[in-house]
Order: sequence, then structure tokens, then C-alpha cells
Amino acid sequence: MDVRGDFLVIGSGIAGLRAALSLAGSGDVIVLTKADPTESSTGYAQGGIAAALGPDDSPDLHARDMVAAGDGLCDPDAVDVLVREGPKYVVELLAWGAGFDRETDGSPALAREAAHSVRRVLHARDATGREIGRLLWSRVAANPRIRVLQDTLAVELVLSGGACAGARCVSGSGGATTVTAARTLLATGGAGQVFRDTTNPSIATGDGIAMASVAGARVCDLEFIQFHPTVLSGEGAPRFLLSEALRGEGGRLVNATGEPFMTRYEPAGDLASRDLVSRAIVREIQKTGAPVYLSMAHLDHDFVRQRFPTIAQACAQAGLDLAADRIPVSPAAHYVMGGVETDLDGRTSVDALFAAGEVACTGAHGANRLASNSLLEGLVFGARAGEAMKQPVCAARLRSADVVSRPRVAAPRAASIGLPSADDVRGVMWRHCGLLRQRGGMEQAIVRLEAWDAAMRGAGASKAMDQEFRRVSSIVTVGLLIARAALRREESRGGHFRTDFPDRDDILWRRHVSDMLTRA
Ligand code: FAD
Ligand code: SIN
Repeated sequence: MDVRGDFLVIGSGIAGLRAALSLAGSGDVIVLTKADPTESSTGYAQGGIAAALGPDDSPDLHARDMVAAGDGLCDPDAVDVLVREGPKYVVELLAWGAGFDRETDGSPALAREAAHSVRRVLHARDATGREIGRLLWSRVAANPRIRVLQDTLAVELVLSGGACAGARCVSGSGGATTVTAARTLLATGGAGQVFRDTTNPSIATGDGIAMASVAGARVCDLEFIQFHPTVLSGEGAPRFLLSEALRGEGGRLVNATGEPFMTRYEPAGDLASRDLVSRAIVREIQKTGAPVYLSMAHLDHDFVRQRFPTIAQACAQAGLDLAADRIPVSPAAHYVMGGVETDLDGRTSVDALFAAGEVACTGAHGANRLASNSLLEGLVFGARAGEAMKQPVCAARLRSADVVSRPRVAAPRAASIGLPSADDVRGVMWRHCGLLRQRGGMEQAIVRLEAWDAAMRGAGASKAMDQEFRRVSSIVTVGLLIARAALRREESRGGHFRTDFPDRDDILWRRHVSDMLTRA
């Protein structure tokens, strides 16, 4: 079955849905989503959405906090767009009926999160993404110009004369579909599933990064992975996120003796940026040989349970009382700062192909994203990409970056290694390309990933319709891009830490590096 629309949007998270709403006035929009439309990282977002709306706040202050967290690599123009346009789009959500928490005077309640200098995070208790998803989805579902194809996995971009003309897809029942459109938006979200331990849902396999890269688009900054410091870590417990908003409301990290240890590592203590808190937790675990805990026990128990009902319920399922018990935590992969390189309107280096949300790299987050800025990015840049997709295609104005071109080697006839499982790949990535990295481990990972990549591509034709094969294939492709980028950057900065190059090196490395596959 073939489908035709004016615009193709791949993904139904905040970026894809917001873009679809912009596009619907100008043509027929097809939204593809590989699962249920509400299954996305957006739906699991807890802490909230940041915007400079408070009386003590301003876009300039928000920008200053982003630049500090971004560790010298934020793109100033992208930061400027996000902080200045953010409030407008968040106010639009409020006007559409977003059920965010309010103060008694009716103004939005603002929460504090790490590395924000003031309270600026709008939230719906601890399930903000579910509320935003509900709101956007209800508008999309009511719009007759938008057609949603769910359980439909995009596997490859269609190129025509060097421009993107749609995507080839596999439906849940195994049938093949080609969707053609004049403009295509990748809004496929992140890639946390590349790592063994992650907060991300199963859909987050980096498909958009893999598809764009194979189509010859530039991808950028993939060495910068954010590991969230406080993820539930009990024996057999799911890696459930414990929002940074818990520390924003006074929660403390303590070691096994009950000592609050963060200020021994960072002057900003529990509210230092995520990369710093994650590494401090790992060092404290290594030093003491015992787990680290998040404790809310010193706060009002009723307040904690009412403010964080979703997290309290997840803890209860693991036999823990969020308000009274110490909750064991350790870092897990949470967010990818890099992605498909775009300009400020979502254009990529391939004509008619756009990207927005976590799959994209606008440069706004630099080497480390500030809390609650990802929903904001999806909203703002999703809307901007939607507007730009209505315009005649013009070349992207990508910021300057060093570009490393690598010929795509033809698939071998016989592979030297069997096909991997997703867990094989995720284990290697966690061990060698995780929070602490060093040359030897990454080189081992790359040898293994290259062999798996060759094996997957050798088997590709016979497995073309197999969804699990496609999932592993994306994980291998994106894992390899991450590992190569991490090996190349011989310094430590933001979400990239090398034990063999522990310092930030602004002389050699204050720059973005892009990768581009070329035909062999
Ligand atoms: P997503 O919301 O992940 O949507 C991706 C969509 O693409 C899905 O619909 C998926 O099915 C679809 N898709 C993917 N691949 C394909 C394919 N091949 N074919 C078809 N469809 C495909 N950020 C904040 O700012 N504030 C928070 O409080 C916050 N909390 C978080 C909590 C958790 C547990 C997690 C995991 C993330 C959190 N984040 C938070 C990060 C934020 O939620 C995500 O970065 C953001 O929602 C990404 O939005 P998106 O639209 O880019 O992608
Ligand atoms: C959290 O609630 O801690 C996650 C927020 C985010 O990823 O921005």
C-alpha cells in the first residue's frame, strides 16, 4: 500500500505533534508512529517544561543558565531562539487548556530544578509530559487534515534527485508501505535504548539518527550523552526516573552512612548540573563500595506524596515509601544532546528533510542539557520546523562544524560474527561508552560494533520486514556513531567524560564535529 501526503511527520511526541499542528493549515499531513500514538519519551516526562515566565526571571537569565550547563558548546543563536520564543509557545499551551499546577492566585506554579538559578519549570505534578501529550494529541486527533498511521515503523528515507521524498515503512502486521511527501520531518526522539541502563521507553532506539545518517545527512555532537543521576536502582527494580524536581523541592543525596555527600564534590551540591551529579554519585559508590540514596525523609511527608504521586507509586511498587525511605539511585542514559544537524528552522543537510526534537542537534544544549529544556525544544523547534516546511525548500544554513566524511563500505558477502541481540549491543555501549570512557574500551567497542554492523548489513535483505532486526540495526548504527565520536574527542566536557583526558580543552576542542556517510 502506498500513501501520499503533502507533509510527512515521523513521530508523535511533542516535536512531531506540534509540527503537525503548524502544517495542517497548509496541506495534508501524514503522521507516522511506530507504536501507540501516545507512546513516546514525551509521555513519560516528569519534571516539567522550562520557560522564563516568573517575575524574577528573564530570557537572558535562562540563556545564562543554559550556557553555563552547556560547558562552552552552546550555539548562541539556538539558545536565543529557545529562551525568547519559549514563553510564547508555553503560553499557547496554557491557552489551549494545559492542566499545569497553579498558585492560589491562578498563575502557573514554577518548580526549581538543578542548574536553574530561579524557579522556572511549569509542571503537572510529576507527569507533565502525559498532560502535554494529551493536549496536543486531542488537537491532532480532531484535525481532519492530519492522518495518523500508528504501529508503522519508518525504516528508510526515500531519496529522489538528492532530496528526501518520504519514507519506506513496515506496518505492525509486517506489510510494506511507502509514504511519499514533498517534505519530511524526523521527530523520532532520542536513543537511550542504545545503553543497557536507561530512563527511555523502548521506542527510543535512535531510528531517525540512523535513517538520516544512512541517507547522507550530517549528524553532530553524538558523543554528548546525558546520564540522569537519580534513577531507581534496587535489585530487580525497573530503572524508573526519580525527577530532579525532587531535589528541587529539597531532596538530598546521601551515602550509606546517611551523610549528604554532594558538597564534597561540587559547590552547588545536590543542584549541580546532571553530568557533575552523575559522576559524583559514581565516585561516591566507588569510594564507599555501597549504594547511594535519595532521601526526602526530612520533608513533609504529605507534601512529598501529593507533589510526586507518580514517582511515589513507582517506589511503592518496588516496596519503598518515597516520603519516608531512602531510595537507592544510580545514573542511567537519559538524553542525547547530539543528533541530526539542523539550522534554526529544522532544515538538515539533505534537501526537503527536516528534524526537530530530541533527534535533532540545533546546538542549543551544547555539551549538556539543562533540565526541562527538552520539552521546550520540541515545542519551539517543532513549531518552527512546521512553519519552514511550508516554504520553498532552500539550503540549510548549518552552523560551522568540522565535518568528517566516511565512505559507507559495501556489506560483506559473509560476516565474521553472528547477529547481535539488542542486549549484546547495549551491554557493550554501557561498559565502554557510558559515563566514564577511555581509549582502550572504546576501541574494543568499535571493533565489535563494526563487525555487528557488517553482519547486520549482510543479512539486511532477508530481514527487511523484521521489526526486531530493524530495532537492533538502529541501535548498532547509532552506537557506532556515538563510539566513534567519543573516541575522537580527546577531552572531557559536559556529557562526555574521558578518564584518559579528564580536562576540558578549549584550545583544541571548543568546536562541534559532524559525521557524514558518503557512498563508497
Ligand atoms: P518522543 O517524545 O520520544 O517521540 C518520538 C516519537 O517517534 C514516538 O512517537 C515514536 O513512536 C516515534 N518513532 C521513533 N522512531 C520511529 C520510526 N522509525 N518510525 C515511526 N515512528 C517512530 N524533558 C523535559 O524537558 N522535561 C522533563 O520533565 C523530562 N522528563 C523526562 C522523563 C523521562 C522518563 C524521559 C525518558 C525523558 C524526559 N525528558 C524530559 C526528555 C523529553 O521527554 C524528551 O527529550 C522529549 O519528550 C522528546 O520529544 P520528541 O518529540 O523529540 O520525541
Ligand atoms: C526530570 O524530571 O528530572 C527530567 C527532566 C528532564 O529531563 O529535563
